[in-house]
Amino acid sequence: MNQQYKIRIVGAQAQLQEQAGAAIHEVAAGQVLLQVKAASLNYRDLLTLQGAANGAARDGLVPLSDAVGTVLAVGDGVQGWQVGDRASPNFFPAWVDGRFDPAHLQLALGGGNTDGVLSQQLLVPAQSLVAPAAHLTDEEAATLPCAGLTAWHALFERGQVRAGETVLVQGTGGVALLGLQLAAAAGARVIVTSSSHAKLERARQLGAWVTIHYGDNPDWDQQVLALTEGLGADHILELGGPDTYDRSIRAVAAGGRIAQIGVLSGFNARPDIQPLQFKNARIDGICVGSVAQFQRLNQFMAEHRIRPVIDRVFDFDASPAAYTHLASGQHFGKVAIRL
Ligand SMILES: NC(=O)c1ccc[n+]([C@@H]2O[C@H](COP(=O)([O-])OP(=O)(O)OC[C@H]3O[C@@H](n4cnc5c(N)ncnc54)[C@H](OP(=O)(O)O)[C@@H]3O)[C@@H](O)[C@H]2O)c1
Repeated sequence: MNQQYKIRIVGAQAQLQEQAGAAIHEVAAGQVLLQVKAASLNYRDLLTLQGAANGAARDGLVPLSDAVGTVLAVGDGVQGWQVGDRASPNFFPAWVDGRFDPAHLQLALGGGNTDGVLSQQLLVPAQSLVAPAAHLTDEEAATLPCAGLTAWHALFERGQVRAGETVLVQGTGGVALLGLQLAAAAGARVIVTSSSHAKLERARQLGAWVTIHYGDNPDWDQQVLALTEGLGADHILELGGPDTYDRSIRAVAAGGRIAQIGVLSGFNARPDIQPLQFKNARIDGICVGSVAQFQRLNQFMAEHRIRPVIDRVFDFDASPAAYTHLASGQHFGKVAIRL
């Protein structure tokens, strides 16, 4: 790291901070160069490693989608960002607002074709950046772009969750716990399932209304109905996939909604969807979210002073161990990397 570090600004604007470092970056018009401070892992990163997400990962792919950094340089025409600002790029850099375009899938950070964020410096379009909630540490803020935004999109943008409604989240990983925290802050009653009694105790401390051990109680859908006087859950974050989907359909309330998010037990769930018709219930396909939604998530986090749960932080050099830890399933909440 004793080489001269150069940033070449392409265009007229020259906001530049010289630093010791190794890379030469061309910061084109509309781009921002970040010094990455923290990143986090998602289950999707395990799938990417296996070649199971968005096709096979390109050899040499820079992994991970979630990061927070400080602005090192801004390209020509960039407005609203200054050197030194803290910023986090959206999972889909090109989905700024409005309706989703499937073309965004190929551009998702750290997917099969597009380099991700596990690098010391990162060039991103300025339009993809969001200012993280100020009360969060870099590691905490770096847990939000995928898991947090997915839970927010499902529950608030699509679900319009209200105080007093019942929300079910499956497991105690990143999406589930951020869903718990967000829904509880909105005044919802949150049911959490887990394979671990110790994790369920921690979920209760985080604000879960009821917890269910899905190993001891494989018919957890019946328990959800019993707990809600036969009504069912108004919102379900469907994270399990084939192993959980039929039970989610049985457990959802009339007029309720299932957010189809996860593949924890595999792809291609083929549930019996007929019962949804007789409940006037729906399935919302959810794929992370837009920059505008990410901004609203951070505003909500700030208003409610929510701090994401970080299970463990690894140093950059120990990134492979972070993957191993996530794959073990021992984690409660998020696994982060400090750069
Ligand atoms: N559609 C989207 O936009 C989107 C975005 C983010 C994530 N996802 C998907 O959502 C899922 C969760 O992602 P994540 O990053 O939050 O995962 P994660 O942090 O790795 O969470 C894994 C946890 O889920 C629980 N789990 C595992 N198998 C389960 C099963 N069959 N039934 C219920 N719970 C189970 C376990 O919790 P316990 O130890 O407590 O049992 C496990 O520790 C993944 O399938 C991921 O691909 C989709």
